[in-house]
Amino acid sequence: MERTFAIIKPDAFAAGNGGRIISRIYSEGFKVVGLKKLYLSKIEAEGFYAVHRERPFFGELTDFMSSGPCIVMVLEAEGAIVKWRELMGATNPAAAKPGTLRNEFGSSVGENATHGSDAPETAAFEMAYFFSGLELL
Ligand code: RTP
Ligand code: MG
Repeated sequence: MERTFAIIKPDAFAAGNGGRIISRIYSEGFKVVGLKKLYLSKIEAEGFYAVHRERPFFGELTDFMSSGPCIVMVLEAEGAIVKWRELMGATNPAAAKPGTLRNEFGSSVGENATHGSDAPETAAFEMAYFFSGLELL
């Protein structure tokens, strides 16, 4: 079994799509190991996305991620990292295939409904950024 880290981003949370996304997570066979609602500060969003610090969209991205509440989760499944990225779909909702979460709930590259770790190392960093071991029992 593998674990990955996921976010229901502020656009999807504000639109009331959190429940539908969580329902989909269960129906696709993930176990929800950790889950909480947070309202990230700008500094917390910058720390989370530090890997993108040099990218031109860093300011826009961290403004958006601190613009409202989100839901952070740890998901478990066989091949969870790839499985969750497949369920999310392409970064740009316009390119995300029908049936993916970003196709259904995303509205732009910036406001694309969900986040998912892209590799085991980033998953480990991201899970530890938001959850203690005790919260993932
Ligand atoms: P994420 O990390 O959120 O799961 O998304 P991702 O791996 O599919 O995409 P990544 O390259 O890691 O980019 C992180 C987030 O930055 C925003 N972005 N904006 N304006 C732009 O050109 C641009 N490019 C990326 C997106 O919200 C993306 O999810
Ligand atoms: Mg990414």
